[in-house]
Amino acid sequence: MSVPVITIDGPGGSGKGAISRALASRLGWHYLDSGSLYRVLGYAALRDDVSLDDEAALVALAGRLSTTCRLPAADSPAVLLDGRDINADLRTEAAGKAASKLAVLPAVRTALLDWQRHCRQPPGLVADGRDMGTVVFPDADLKLFLTARPGVRAERRYKQLKEIGKEADLAALRQEVEARDRRDSTRQTAPLKPAADAITLDNSDEDEARTLDSVLELVRDKL
Ligand code: DC
Repeated sequence: MSVPVITIDGPGGSGKGAISRALASRLGWHYLDSGSLYRVLGYAALRDDVSLDDEAALVALAGRLSTTCRLPAADSPAVLLDGRDINADLRTEAAGKAASKLAVLPAVRTALLDWQRHCRQPPGLVADGRDMGTVVFPDADLKLFLTARPGVRAERRYKQLKEIGKEADLAALRQEVEARDRRDSTRQTAPLKPAADAITLDNSDEDEARTLDSVLELVRDKL
């Protein structure tokens, strides 16, 4: 029998990270934050002066990172690159924008597939991203698509950045959120969209605890 997977896709600021991590922790499953992987690559490209449209150089960089980088676990947001926790650097808009830019490149996405699928380990995996249910784990046991209005998502990002001591401008963040949605949803390869068999939840008017309750109910019904 294959290892069970729950996918939670959605745009930035929909709360999918917090919900996926909490769900993985409740179930005692592994957690894949696939956005971190794109962000790590964006961060390393900026650091090493690799151009965000140099597909071959980015593929080579992804190969090197897959052996030196440790992704976050359900109980810890730390992302270790060469032994250093770079999670705070990954949460900046610069890293998010870089990730979104290189994520349009098909060869880069292919280069990251094995790394992501390797996270499917017993007893189960909760995977969050943009194409978890459509491309990476099309046979997932339960597929959710979490979303919220752009203004609400920009406010959530604003709070997250303040919490980690980063400067933030709400109006600029809203523009970034909308630009990133456009880029992620209109790209040719693996665009942001619900899988045909996904359940969509809009949590604009719900806090994290309520959203987690709704998700747990769906999980109980399904598994
Ligand atoms: O979820 P996030 O904000 O950390 O993701 C950062 C960017 O990475 C996002 O704008 C697009 C890209 N991404 C992707 O293309 N596919 C994924 N499965 C996850 C993220």
